[in-house]
Amino acid sequence: MLQAFVPRESEPGETRVAATPDTVKKLIASGLAVAVEKGAGERASFLDAAYVAAGATVVADRAAGLAAADLVLQLQPPRSEAELPKSGAALVSFLYPAARLPLVKAMAQRGVTGFAMELIPRISRAQRMDALSSQSNIAGYKAVLMAADALGKLMPMLMTAAGTITPARVVILGAGVAGLQAIATARRLGALVEVSDIRPAVKEQVESLGAKFIEVAVKQDAEDKGGYAKEASAEFKKAQEEALKKRVAEADVVICTALIPGKPAPKLLPTSMVEAMRPGSVVVDLAAEQGGNCELTRPGETATSKNGVVLLGVKNVPALVPVHASDMYAKNVLYFVQHLVKAGALHVDVQDEITAGCLVTRGGQVVHAPTAALIPAGVSS
Ligand code: NAI
Repeated sequence: MLQAFVPRESEPGETRVAATPDTVKKLIASGLAVAVEKGAGERASFLDAAYVAAGATVVADRAAGLAAADLVLQLQPPRSEAELPKSGAALVSFLYPAARLPLVKAMAQRGVTGFAMELIPRISRAQRMDALSSQSNIAGYKAVLMAADALGKLMPMLMTAAGTITPARVVILGAGVAGLQAIATARRLGALVEVSDIRPAVKEQVESLGAKFIEVAVKQDAEDKGGYAKEASAEFKKAQEEALKKRVAEADVVICTALIPGKPAPKLLPTSMVEAMRPGSVVVDLAAEQGGNCELTRPGETATSKNGVVLLGVKNVPALVPVHASDMYAKNVLYFVQHLVKAGALHVDVQDEITAGCLVTRGGQVVHAPTAALIPAGVSS
């Protein structure tokens, strides 16, 4: 029987877990045996007893779990060779291989079959496995609550005996999965929301959520084949900055979510724009991990600009919502495992678009072409 193992995440600050008692039951129903490291889910309120009740065994430490496992299910990439599965076993995790070449090489050398959750193609058939979307959705929601909490104002319009309070103005940069959820959340709190995105295709979605799309006069070829943003032209950047200036100066909150795959986050909020904002306004920069959309963001820290704007350079926001973030990630992993396992065995079908898309290492090789291209010849085998 295929033995799966779910370690306790070792990345500092990580609170999520790659399987919940609910998904453990379903993994077992799919023909797997499941072991969970002691305390794996406790930071997400899933206690060992609940995993045992779901049919898992609890093992005392990671080394013991890894030694017995054919399939390791986790969330953050392994942090060292000691955290890798045994030779011949498989790993399902976020891997970010381009940023972790030594890890990828070690996986290949050990003969680990490595699947990167973030590389699962975003096709309709794989929507249930889309961990980027599930976690971005949570980040977009939480970012608005963090902004509301840091703001010395209320979000909705209130008509009270003591006078009328005007609604907060929120500007959202980037209307991908996180941005769209941020719009919906800010609207539910009663804020007025304006949104900028380089892809004109999102205008309709933005408007259907009750927000205003900030038009930029300059048109550019904004989308690649996969629907992701391309880098903006100098002309577009200038026109966008002009369009944003007044809106940002009047905003109480700016939520930054703009990203370009494989590139540092576009800088959309220069210092001059922050310095034109009112004291006490709040910028939440969800792009902080990729360098931030705001020039003054300090990734992982909260800063205050000279004029009193609070800048939240938050990292790993989904880990601040560990129950639902784990619940959704665990389901993404479950559906992917069910896709891979046929008749109780791991079936790696490289003709399948989903499997091939996220396969990073196999049979001693780095098989993900863009990653292999970053490794000098002869080192990958
Ligand atoms: P992302 O996290 O890569 O980027 C966030 C947003 O930033 C995007 O909307 C992007 O256009 C925007 N952006 C980039 N540069 C910008 C700039 N200079 N100014 C303003 N905005 C800028 O995007 P995410 O959330 O991963 O989604 C990317 C695409 O993938 C979208 O088209 C989305 O609809 C699509 N998608 C498709 C799914 C599917 O299953 N078919 C599932 C999830 C997303």
